[in-house]
Amino acid sequence: MEDREVAELIEAARAARGKAYVPYSNFAVGAAVRTVTGEVYTGCNIENGSYGLTNCAERTAIFKAVSEGHRRFTHLAVICDTRDVCTPCGACRQVISEFGEGMTIYLTNLQGKLRVVRVDDLLPGAFNLTENRR
Ligand code: THU
Repeated sequence: MEDREVAELIEAARAARGKAYVPYSNFAVGAAVRTVTGEVYTGCNIENGSYGLTNCAERTAIFKAVSEGHRRFTHLAVICDTRDVCTPCGACRQVISEFGEGMTIYLTNLQGKLRVVRVDDLLPGAFNLTENRR
């Protein structure tokens, strides 16, 4: 992706963060995923009074895209208000790995800090049912 497209993906994640439903943690996260065909889907975290039902921003974005028929993604941006860059939780890493072979991930924060990683950096040895079934 060109620098401009990276900036646009991060900007889309930032805008999605504004939609976060976070009455419990007050910790808003935004994500944006880009499909192989160039469409961008965004997501925010959505909390629930039954805390364990909370859906992270990364999974919201990926699930929105998958439910619209997309399964192959090339890039993902995540943004939140942290000192360092925003890093996905373990559950999201597993979901990202399911759809993110070869994906480039932009971990950012509101101050513009940026770290670029690959799926394998986030979750080496991710569970893969297709490859491990006897
Ligand atoms: N959260 C995300 O949305 N993504 C992450 O990768 C880490 C955590 C959300 C879940 C919860 O709403 C809030 O951040 C605090 O954990």
